[in-house]
Amino acid sequence: MKLLVAYYSRTGTTRKVAEVIAEVLKCDVEEIRDLKNRVGVLGWLSSGMDATLKRLTKIEKPVKLPELYDVTIVGTPVWNSTVSTPVRTYILEYRSRFKQVAFFCTQYSSESNALKDMEALCGMKPIATLMITRRQMETGDYIGEIEKFCAQITR
Ligand SMILES: Cc1cc2nc3c(=O)[nH]c(=O)nc-3n(C[C@H](O)[C@H](O)[C@H](O)COP(=O)(O)O)c2cc1C
Repeated sequence: MKLLVAYYSRTGTTRKVAEVIAEVLKCDVEEIRDLKNRVGVLGWLSSGMDATLKRLTKIEKPVKLPELYDVTIVGTPVWNSTVSTPVRTYILEYRSRFKQVAFFCTQYSSESNALKDMEALCGMKPIATLMITRRQMETGDYIGEIEKFCAQITR
């Protein structure tokens, strides 16, 4: 089974999770790159606004095409309880090429609508989902959660 992890990360947390998933699954990774500058406090504020208003952004053209993979595993940081703007854009631009999907998100708390929103945007039920909190990152518990998520994808 050919698997692709496609993720966006503003400050590195989602990247770390994406890299561990790719290592466990031994699969390809595509970083979704936003052309908008989201650094610092101003970047944080505008990102929150963009997410709440469900705006889209300009992203770099991906190198790895989802249609060449059996499952596209899409990862996002949670912004204002929903999917981040670059991942919203990626899903809307490439969803017609997804065969099957799995989703993961990283966030401070343990509640958000991000996974549900990703499902609605894709118009497709995910074969697995994973939500990682800041606390799980700090304690290292996220590794076990990733292993369970990967096992669901490959079963
Ligand atoms: C604009 C913005 C809005 C956020 N909104 C939420 C939120 O609603 N709920 C939450 O638990 N975390 C929220 N966070 C925290 C991020 O989801 C969390 O730090 C995430 O792991 C960051 O991932 P990254 O380092 O890959 O960018 C928000 C962060 C930003 C920048």
